[in-house]
Amino acid sequence: MTERYRTRIAGTGSYLPEKILSNHDLEKLVETNHDWIVERTGIHRRHIVAEGQATSDLALHAAQSALADAKMTPQDLDCILFCTVTPDQPMPASACFLQTKLGCRNIMAVDLNAACTGFLYGLTIADQMIRTGFYKNILVVGAECISRYINYKDRETCILFGDAAGAWICSRTSESDPNVIMTSHLHAEGSLADLLQMEAGAARKPLTQEVLDRGEQFMKMKGREIFKNAVRTMATTCKEALSATNTPMGQIDWMIPHQANLRIIEAVADQFDFPKDKVILSVHETGNTSAASIPCAFEMGKSENKIKRGQLLLLTAFGAGLTSGSMILRY
Ligand SMILES: CC(C)(COP(=O)(O)OP(=O)(O)OC[C@H]1O[C@@H](n2cnc3c(N)ncnc32)[C@H](O)[C@@H]1OP(=O)(O)O)[C@@H](O)C(=O)NCCC(=O)NCCS
Repeated sequence: MTERYRTRIAGTGSYLPEKILSNHDLEKLVETNHDWIVERTGIHRRHIVAEGQATSDLALHAAQSALADAKMTPQDLDCILFCTVTPDQPMPASACFLQTKLGCRNIMAVDLNAACTGFLYGLTIADQMIRTGFYKNILVVGAECISRYINYKDRETCILFGDAAGAWICSRTSESDPNVIMTSHLHAEGSLADLLQMEAGAARKPLTQEVLDRGEQFMKMKGREIFKNAVRTMATTCKEALSATNTPMGQIDWMIPHQANLRIIEAVADQFDFPKDKVILSVHETGNTSAASIPCAFEMGKSENKIKRGQLLLLTAFGAGLTSGSMILRY
């Protein structure tokens, strides 16, 4: 009989850079104020990468914590999936830099760009590669240095984003293990790509002095449109995951949504009458850290003694693209 494999989360870790940018710091850069930011977003502060550090440096700390948590060494890894929209440089992949910094074997190492849904895309691909028997241990990283792409004169975006890294080790387990990834659902609506983008700095619009003068290298966003689509897509994809596993929402121990805005998160939870105290939050501390958001929120929930082994987790995210996704797993 052919053996059938499933994926368990063997270890997790995260890393927030030391430097903090508070709402009061932002008051000195743009016309805004702490109370407005807290009321509209729930964000109090965000962490910012240090001068000279890049995305793979943040990822290294998170990956080392995840390996320690899994009681594994870098030699145990078969593959690195590095989810980011802010790689160290366009080429080669940040995953390759991380591979050598960690001291891995010459394993597969590749970057994935699915914006804020990146970590769910990475986990899903890892899950599929483990189920087929292709690999045993896959490091999925979500790491971003978004501050490098933010215009700190644009008050609609600069208040929202921060830098961070999160990492999970996905490992092969048997079909009888209850603590596995149970289902995942991924989408993208390319027709809505203009709602959230970094327009310049790649093949379509290479960096020129004129492009830089116009600030087209920075992240641009249509906030209200993004807000509506975020609630719509996360609620829809959560329903898919619940229905695919025949799970009533009441059985979910913790919901871990992408941490973009507290009001978006609450609007999604409200659609299911899901208790707010069962939603894991880190947005107040980190702001939106894109692909790092879900693993950082998870780690905060774990450190606060909320998330425990054996519990049922519902993850959901949306992001530029517009990508969206959901996953149910028993941790
Ligand atoms: C950006 C966002 C916080 C704005 O909140 P909002 O409640 O929609 O606010 P509005 O855009 O309606 O703006 C309300 C007013 O506040 C002003 N405003 C915008 N940013 C401000 C700021 N940082 N400080 C103070 N005032 C601000 C606007 O100019 C507007 O003024 P007006 O009424 O005089 O025109 C909100 O739309 C949002 O979070 N969108 C989703 C963003 C997101 O998640 N992006 C990442 C996706 S992965």
